[in-house]
Amino acid sequence: MNTTIHLVYLACAVSFVIGLHWMNAPATARRGNQISAAGMALAILTTVVVLVRDHTVTLGAAVALVIGSAAGGLAGLLTARRVQMTAMPQLVSLFNAVGGGAAALIALGDRTASVFGVLDVAIGGVTFTGSLVAAGKLAGRIPGRPITVPFGRWLSAALTALAAALGVWFVADGGNQWLLGGVTLAALAGGLLLSLPIGGADMPVVISLLNAFTGTAVAMAGFVLDSTPLIIAGGLVGAAGAILTKLMADAMNRPISAIMAGGYGTGDAVAVATGSGSAAVREITADDAAIQLAYASKVVIVPGYGLAAAQAQHEAVALAEALTERGVEVTYAIHPVAGRMPGHMNVLLAEANAPYQQLKDLEESNPEFARTDVALIIGANDVTNPAARRPGNPVSGMPILDVDKARSVIVLKRSLGHGYAGIDNELYSDPKTAMLFADAKAGLGALLSGLHAYAD
Ligand code: TAP
Repeated sequence: MNTTIHLVYLACAVSFVIGLHWMNAPATARRGNQISAAGMALAILTTVVVLVRDHTVTLGAAVALVIGSAAGGLAGLLTARRVQMTAMPQLVSLFNAVGGGAAALIALGDRTASVFGVLDVAIGGVTFTGSLVAAGKLAGRIPGRPITVPFGRWLSAALTALAAALGVWFVADGGNQWLLGGVTLAALAGGLLLSLPIGGADMPVVISLLNAFTGTAVAMAGFVLDSTPLIIAGGLVGAAGAILTKLMADAMNRPISAIMAGGYGTGDAVAVATGSGSAAVREITADDAAIQLAYASKVVIVPGYGLAAAQAQHEAVALAEALTERGVEVTYAIHPVAGRMPGHMNVLLAEANAPYQQLKDLEESNPEFARTDVALIIGANDVTNPAARRPGNPVSGMPILDVDKARSVIVLKRSLGHGYAGIDNELYSDPKTAMLFADAKAGLGALLSGLHAYAD
């Protein structure tokens, strides 16, 4: 029986790895998700079999388990089904908080004093409050700007030292729960200090870092419970999150250590703020923009958060198709932190069946702008802001899409309003740029009508 159980757990682990691998490409991502979910369902079922076989749960505990998993499963299912695509990032952050918190509770409920238990509580605690703050910032319930705590860095260092000292004492002492409680409080405060000072455009790095933390906390919980599938699943999430964090930090051109120390993105916004709406900008009508697009030979579409907010992905793809039919070469330039979650634009465009070969990342897109007739920016802002090329502001150093190298630029958004980083975009007053002020969905609809009315 034991061998069978281990073999089943091994099969679950293999399905997680295969699933992750399939998630590499949009064409197989859905199948990847399904096989991983099936592996997880099998792992849970096998664990239930083990619990029943070993008589490790009392009747009361069994009732609590059934009610708890039914309520949690239902809540997860309903929120995931009902969530708007634009609210997905904060939901993912909330799920991170729940994952980290649950992992920490496992160690808090354990009677043995182990290093793994201490690490579980410490990492899980940081993840819990850090992710709650991140979700609050993404949902706009907590100001997105950096909120700095006086002596924040010193406080973080002191809390880390305190947690480490209490943790060592807890293990040496053989399990005084008060000490573990102290580690928990220090970790919870540490999570607040990690996320509150993050501002400007640096949120993506912190979100993926917290994702890595969740996985690591779950892996530690696996050691506490001596559960192989939990160790493997947590390890995979931790490793994938760590790789994503590195990619995001590289995409933002930021050292991870500096972001973790806090206060990054607190640059002098005033240096670039010209006063929203005061800069001279050139407006264009949808019909004129449509004609310009129709007679271009190469158009690059730059999607951003506004495309997601307007749920205009289908209209964007319809416009791209209409242009392609006219013989215009169309590609999408995808910035790694466009939108509000990793891969946000890829998910949106895949949903609208944009051909994968038309999706180009930042490195592929930038050399193309010099031979582009029109860069059509749809609801993107920070990822195109030339201020990033100068020091002293919240987006400084972040690689941007070089849309200003194109022959002309059309920006479709509702106003001269700011993006996530909260600063003006100098691109809008560039003589090459024409602003098409509209909601992305309505504006794209008008562009399509214009294309049919004037260019057919
Ligand atoms: P942003 O710079 O946030 O700009 C989005 C723009 O969309 C806004 O300026 C807004 O202007 C416009 N908009 C909003 N609703 C719209 C609608 N219905 N129709 C048309 N336009 C609309 O977006 P971005 O360029 O994609 O950059 C992403 C930013 O978010 C970066 O600063 C990034 O660091 C940050 N961030 C990213 C992530 C990840 S992982 N991707 C996570 C957290 C934060 P109007 O109000 O004038 O329309």
